Amino acid sequence: MRVPMIAGNWKMNTTVSEAIELVNELRRGLDEIDNVDKVICPPFVSLATVRELIRGSSIKLGAQNIYFEAKGAYTGEISPLMLADLCEFVIIGHSERRQYFNETGEMINKKVQAALRAGLKPILCIGERLEENEAGRTEEVITEQLRSSLAGIEHLSGLVIAYEPVWAIGTGRAATGKQANKTISFIRRIISQKYGKEIAQDLRILYGGSVTADNAAEFMRQLEIDGALVGGASLKANEFLSIVKQTSEIKQVT
Ligand code: 13P
Repeated sequence: MRVPMIAGNWKMNTTVSEAIELVNELRRGLDEIDNVDKVICPPFVSLATVRELIRGSSIKLGAQNIYFEAKGAYTGEISPLMLADLCEFVIIGHSERRQYFNETGEMINKKVQAALRAGLKPILCIGERLEENEAGRTEEVITEQLRSSLAGIEHLSGLVIAYEPVWAIGTGRAATGKQANKTISFIRRIISQKYGKEIAQDLRILYGGSVTADNAAEFMRQLEIDGALVGGASLKANEFLSIVKQTSEIKQVT
C-alpha cells in the first residue's frame, strides 16, 4: 500500500514572516488529516523557522533544490548535509530549474545521488514540454529523463517521482486525470523494468501542474496517481487543506 502524499512547492514566494503566517494557518488543519503524507517546501531561508513551528506535528518538511557537493567553495549553494539536518524531502529537477537555470540530466542525477547519500528523500520531477507533447513524444522524453536522472542509482530509498507536464505548470491548464494516470502508469512500467515489480509497486508517483481544490478529486480518483505536487494552490491555506482532505477521503476508499 502506497501512502498518498500531497506536497506544497511554495517556489520563490513568502518572506520569513509570511511563511510563519502560512504555517500557522495550515498547522492545525493539516494535523487533523490522516492517511496522507503532508509535505511543505518553503524557500531555504524559512526552513529552519518552519521546522520549529511544525515540531511535534505530522507535517513534513522539504526543500526546493540542492547542490551535489557536500561542502566547500561554492558561494550561494546549499549542500545535502545542510539540508539533511533540517528536512526530510528535497525537490530535484523541477522544470523551472531545467528551464531557467540550465539544469541538465547529468546535474540532476548528481543531485539525486547526493540527496540519497545524505539520507534525504528526493522528489524527482519529470515531464514533457508542450511541443514534445504535441509531437507525441511524451513517452520518449519521460524515458530519457528517467534514464539520465536515475543512472547508476541502485536503491530508490524513499524517492518520490512527480510527473509535471511543463505545459500544465502555472498555466491553469491541468492535464486530465486520465492523461496523467496514463503517463504515470507508463513511468511505473519503466521503473519496474529497471528496479523490478515490487519496487515499482511501492514507489509513489505524484501529479503536478495546476492542481487546485476544484480539480484535485479528479486526479486522486486515479489508481496510479499517489498524490500531488502543488504550486500556486499551496500558498492558500484553505485551498491546500481542501486538497489534502479530499485526497485522504478519496484514497481511503479507492
Ligand atoms: P502550479 O500548481 O502552480 O501549476 O505548479 C506546479 C508545480 O510546478 C509544482 O512543483
